[in-house]
Amino acid sequence: MNTDRPVILISSGDAQTDAFLRAGLQEAFPNVGLRIAHDEGDLRRQLPDAEVLMAWKFPVGVLSGAPKLRWLQLLGAGADSLSGTQLPAELSVTNIRNVFGTSMAEHTIAYMLAHAKQLRRFSQQQEKQEWSPSEPALLSGRTVGVAGLGSIGRKIAEYCGALGMEVIGLRRRRGEVPGVNAVFTSEEIDEFLPRCDYLVLVMPGTRETEHLLTSDRLRRVRRGCFLVSIGRGNVVAEKDLVDALEEGRLAGAALDVFEREPLPSSSPLWGMGNVYITPHISGINRAEDLLPPVKENLKRYLRGEALSNRVDLRQGY
Ligand code: GLV
Repeated sequence: MNTDRPVILISSGDAQTDAFLRAGLQEAFPNVGLRIAHDEGDLRRQLPDAEVLMAWKFPVGVLSGAPKLRWLQLLGAGADSLSGTQLPAELSVTNIRNVFGTSMAEHTIAYMLAHAKQLRRFSQQQEKQEWSPSEPALLSGRTVGVAGLGSIGRKIAEYCGALGMEVIGLRRRRGEVPGVNAVFTSEEIDEFLPRCDYLVLVMPGTRETEHLLTSDRLRRVRRGCFLVSIGRGNVVAEKDLVDALEEGRLAGAALDVFEREPLPSSSPLWGMGNVYITPHISGINRAEDLLPPVKENLKRYLRGEALSNRVDLRQGY
């Protein structure tokens, strides 16, 4: 291995992002060899030489052909794609944090307001030139439960608090979180759910969160609750979700993530009038936001310092 000029492979899944990252990193670190892998074949060909991989949405199986790999920088937040993969113990995995909170908090507020202010109903009425008043609701004074209190969940809590909502939260460990009036632990989920007028799921996809919400739990949610799901689709059992929406236990849902993506055309969710579907876009992934944390970590790596935003692979995030 040539330690003077380590090979760093970039494969974000987007050609413009790849080029932007390479240019920004090359300028800051002229002595590293930066290469781009455009597709899976390219990745497989170049990985045997790579010491660092900066990647997103890649088939994890390719890592078995990367004997020199020391550091994997994920170019997104979720590390769930690595679960079940045997990775070398000496491989450091890092992700992107503190970047997606603002866009995901805005997304959450947009759809909670769409629900409270009946945007769909009034836009349908407008199309028919129909003047039928019905009273919108307030978010102020209502309780929002944020399940998942990492950097994204905290930003959502902050925005909801600014709108005068009562903010409660759910996380693995006990402990206070700024902007959250009451924190419930995972074991207390059955006390947490009945208090939520709005429930925001922003948990990582791990073995513990998979199918956390099945029909039993969905029955505990306060009747008429509105769900926003933006973390990972398998946190809620989709079949049970459809039932809860059909029965009116949930008043509606804004779903950005699904058990299978793209959402299959056969899914009943597509046709439900109380559901908003977006194609996994709530976290805006801009190259200019990725560059600073990646650059900082590469600086640390080259100096032999501890990397930031390490993923604990046992926990899955
Ligand atoms: C997107 O889903 C991410 O994990 O960054």
